[in-house]
Amino acid sequence: MMATYHPGVHKYALFLVLWTVVLLTAGALVTSNDAALAVADWPTSFGSFFPPLRLLAGGALIEHTHRVIAAVLGVFIILLALLLWRYDERPSLKKLGYAAVAGVIFQGILGGLTVIQLLHYWLPVMHACTAEIMFAILVSIAFFTSHWYMQELPQYADSSSPSIHSIVTFNAFLIFLQVLLGAGFRHHYISYVPHVFGSLAVLACVIWTASTLRRRFPDVKPISLARLSLHSLVGLQFLLGLGALWSRLTTADAPQPMPVMIAFTVVHTVVGAFLFAASIITVLLCYRLVPRKTEVIFATTKGEVPA
Ligand code: HEM
Ligand code: HEM
Repeated sequence: MMATYHPGVHKYALFLVLWTVVLLTAGALVTSNDAALAVADWPTSFGSFFPPLRLLAGGALIEHTHRVIAAVLGVFIILLALLLWRYDERPSLKKLGYAAVAGVIFQGILGGLTVIQLLHYWLPVMHACTAEIMFAILVSIAFFTSHWYMQELPQYADSSSPSIHSIVTFNAFLIFLQVLLGAGFRHHYISYVPHVFGSLAVLACVIWTASTLRRRFPDVKPISLARLSLHSLVGLQFLLGLGALWSRLTTADAPQPMPVMIAFTVVHTVVGAFLFAASIITVLLCYRLVPRKTEVIFATTKGEVPA
């Protein structure tokens, strides 16, 4: 179903994407500074929602700031869901708005349990992974509410096998798996070996995905933009990963946290979210521009000519 473009809703969704980048950075700073348990209670911090500044030093300031930015995101997302419910005609997008509300509440509870359960039961890993999913949901809402998405667009045929939809979906799935392995290592649940091998698989998969996109859709500008973003982000992420590993290994005996380690690990975590979001946008782009085989068959049997 085509919907009416509301510039205000789209701009607000973009603002939430930026806010979430700040939140991802704040969260990654908590982990890299080893500040997760600097505030031992939850949902309050030191027994209050507004603890006195004298209690908020070092790690406690980082952890409490992360909580505040997250709580504000929660309020912002409820408003976004209300805007979608009020102004957007698409039931699926309204549902995505509700999913974002449920996701941010779930994420907040996971964060709280991470503290209360003293980082056990893979809770910090789940919290890190849900953060990336939340980011991807908000980026998708911004994409769906854009003027570009809502206009009439030319459709491009894809008769090759495997279909482009399967390839880009597999690519996004593999990147998410890599994020999971990275979080498992970052939170001391597994060794770094699976993540390092995983990075080679991700690199190969992104190169394959991008070259398939180029071969099948050489002149489609948005698809070219998507594959260039995937290429540059995976390259950057690979270098940052080498930097993160190097900084962890070389500062292992130094008094922690070392600024070089913080910088590499935080940026690597945040760019990981960018790469995952780019892979999701690539999936959505393909679904928007390339009819699936079943859609083509349906259109043909109804006597319509597929693009
Ligand atoms: C609602 C949105 C939230 C988002 C998107 C979010 C995101 C993140 C991210 C990206 C990290 C870094 C993970 C990593 O570096 O591996 C993190 C860490 C953390 N977050 Fe959140 N967070 C949210 C809410 C909360 C809340 C409400 C709490 C409440 C206590 C919380 C507590 C923590 C803790 C303790 C860590 C550090 C875990 C560790 O070092 O092992 N988060 N968060
Ligand atoms: C190319 C694809 C890659 C992706 C998508 C990726 C993604 C990530 C993400 C998202 C995290 C943090 C997870 C969390 O939120 O807790 C992480 C952690 C990490 N990654 Fe990667 N990574 C990649 C490649 C690499 C490479 C090539 C290396 C090194 C050879 C590497 C080394 C690390 C290290 C050392 C950490 C943990 C940082 C710490 O100790 O705090 N990564 N990775």
